[in-house]
Amino acid sequence: MITANTIAEVRSQVLAWRKEGYSIGLVPTMGYLHEGHASLVDEAVKQCDKVVASVFVNPTQFGPGEDLETYPRDFEHDCRLLEEHGCSMVFHPEVAEMYFEDAATYVEIQSDMPKQLCGKTRPIHFRGVCTVVSKLFNIVCPDKAFFGQKDAQQLAIIRKMVRDLSYGIEIVGCPIIREEDGLAKSSRNTYLSPEERKAALILSKSIFLGQKMAQEGEKDAGRIVEAMIRNIETEPLARIDYVSAVDGITMMPVSSMEGTVLFAMAVYIGKTRLIDNFDYNVNTHLP
Ligand code: PAF
Repeated sequence: MITANTIAEVRSQVLAWRKEGYSIGLVPTMGYLHEGHASLVDEAVKQCDKVVASVFVNPTQFGPGEDLETYPRDFEHDCRLLEEHGCSMVFHPEVAEMYFEDAATYVEIQSDMPKQLCGKTRPIHFRGVCTVVSKLFNIVCPDKAFFGQKDAQQLAIIRKMVRDLSYGIEIVGCPIIREEDGLAKSSRNTYLSPEERKAALILSKSIFLGQKMAQEGEKDAGRIVEAMIRNIETEPLARIDYVSAVDGITMMPVSSMEGTVLFAMAVYIGKTRLIDNFDYNVNTHLP
């Protein structure tokens, strides 16, 4: 596996691969990789000749007081995982390589979409995500890019950005990977103490509860949300940021089960903010 620290190195390697006629997949990450990321690389390897993964903790998507400085990092471990899963090149730039000191250009969706769900408490988050992802797209020029459905709002926003800006890149969404006991895999799970790790199971438990209600034919999305909230409130270490039902494409709130409904949550366990979700497509689940 090639390690590239500069944009120029990535560009010249990608050019060489293009001359050979290879297709290219991109897996953008912030590192501290786990099986969730590995599943993105596996899918990229299946669908593309060469896979580039980026490992970059992107400062522009962290707000003041968030965990930019403490975000977990282990580049050696990341390289081992990426190599084992067949990644061809890892791009690991310094912040100064990605952002000029006087950088003043952002990519931002000018609608209410990034203001919903996580955007309510993280107002600049999706502007930072769109900016760095569009820079990565310009650097790597992939045919396809792979993102996890755990960050469902991020995935929807990137799909919209790609469509609005005519990127011509196929966005592939990959399923949430869970621990055996149900907790969605996340780099932030490492912040949890043993007691908090147990308490964190309340997220997946209430996801499964909501999923069961939807599958059993509950037509009122609000009732499902209420049941999920009541369930989370039984856990003393949990503090809800949001639990919401939104349209799976626009991310705008919905009350009834029509089209694809995304049930999404962010919950603090102690100081750690975790997210989880499921989506329910009414048409594909008709009895
Ligand atoms: O999902 C993430 O890890 C990040 O938001 C991403 C897409 C790599 C952009 O920094």
